[in-house]
Amino acid sequence: MTIYDLITKKKHGEELSCDEIKYLVKGFTDGSIPDYQMSAFCMAVYFCGMTDRETSDLTMAMAESGDTVDLSAFGELSCDKHSSGGVGDKTTLIVAPIVASLGGIVAKMSGRGLGHTGGTVDKLESIPGYKTELTPDEFMSISKKCGLCVCGQSGNLAPADKKLYALRDVTATVDSIPLIVSSIMSKKIAAGSKNIMLDVKCGSGAFMKTVEDAKLLAEGMVTIGKMCGRNTKALITNMDVPLGFAVGNSLEVIEAIDVLKGKTKGDIREVSVSLASGLVASLKGIDADQAKLLCEKAIDDGTAFMKFKEWISCQGGNAEYADNTDLFPKAKIEYQIKSTHEGYISHMDAEKIGLSSCELGAGRKTKTDIIDLSAGLVLSKKTGDFVKSGDVIATLYTNDESRISRAEEVFVSALEFSEEMPEEMTLVIDNVG
Ligand code: URA
Repeated sequence: MTIYDLITKKKHGEELSCDEIKYLVKGFTDGSIPDYQMSAFCMAVYFCGMTDRETSDLTMAMAESGDTVDLSAFGELSCDKHSSGGVGDKTTLIVAPIVASLGGIVAKMSGRGLGHTGGTVDKLESIPGYKTELTPDEFMSISKKCGLCVCGQSGNLAPADKKLYALRDVTATVDSIPLIVSSIMSKKIAAGSKNIMLDVKCGSGAFMKTVEDAKLLAEGMVTIGKMCGRNTKALITNMDVPLGFAVGNSLEVIEAIDVLKGKTKGDIREVSVSLASGLVASLKGIDADQAKLLCEKAIDDGTAFMKFKEWISCQGGNAEYADNTDLFPKAKIEYQIKSTHEGYISHMDAEKIGLSSCELGAGRKTKTDIIDLSAGLVLSKKTGDFVKSGDVIATLYTNDESRISRAEEVFVSALEFSEEMPEEMTLVIDNVG
């Protein structure tokens, strides 16, 4: 077998065997297959696609290229969720304690933010003392004791994907469904959970801009997750506008806590409950509507909030911040953006809102940037709201005054107004699996 033969085979749209895919992944990871040949292979996949069987073999080969987490001690109870990335997406902070309070074991790894999207690990680090770097033993013992543990990604999880993603990024081959599916699912499979809930975001702030593309990705991931032996479901949710009102690390943690306390309702609660329900339905063998009632109850009777506090304490964080969110340090500068228009907000481009928050210091433009955990913005109005000239649309928070003007410029460029009330957006657009 040679890599030349495999490129030729794929170029002609033929199906590769499991052994051929293993050879490819092993050779690329150990450096014996050079970048230029792997690039040619990826381009052939881009044009000719892969069968589900090939995608599943590629996923497994990449999952097995590095460390894998063994959660078999938790039987059928281990749960994970994944979001394809959005703005104001603090759902993990809400879904995880709901599911854990209902008997699931959420032992998961999360990422950091880059560009317009945030990352759960950064958000959690805004809680003083919270430890995101854990040894494998600490990870397992907290998961066992509390039913919930969220830490940063291990350095050697699916290294084949890390290397391949970097190559795809510079060879215009990111946007191939089998390559995206295998990339995301290899990390989820390596992370070990039996039950996986995928939140595929769709709209201006999402990786997938159209419902059709989001559906293709969701169906691909669910199919491959199941073929790899994981109970996988997906929701397609709206990311045409930020989720909730807060964007920025500690601001989002505060909003998530308010949802768990039952103080904040609306889109963020609805999407979080829908995601949690999918996992709870799998765990308990009940339908999604019954599961939804249990999840709503876990918020309303305070058990999800108690679980949140237990989790934060178990990971070294100060849970008093959850009881009293006024303890979170506030950014020195608050600046209100006021409307210069009268009319309905017909569109609020979520990506631009995320970039505005990034300009305030809440996000990273490059992987090594240091972020300001108290920076970000809180919306007062969202798509569909009527505003009069002078009404506050958002408040910006930062510790660096020089950032305000650029952030305001980006924020304002996200807004479109109309005299007509726009159609109400569907939050949970579809479910798969
Ligand atoms: N996110 C990933 O992890 N991989 C992709 O290929 C695309 C988005």
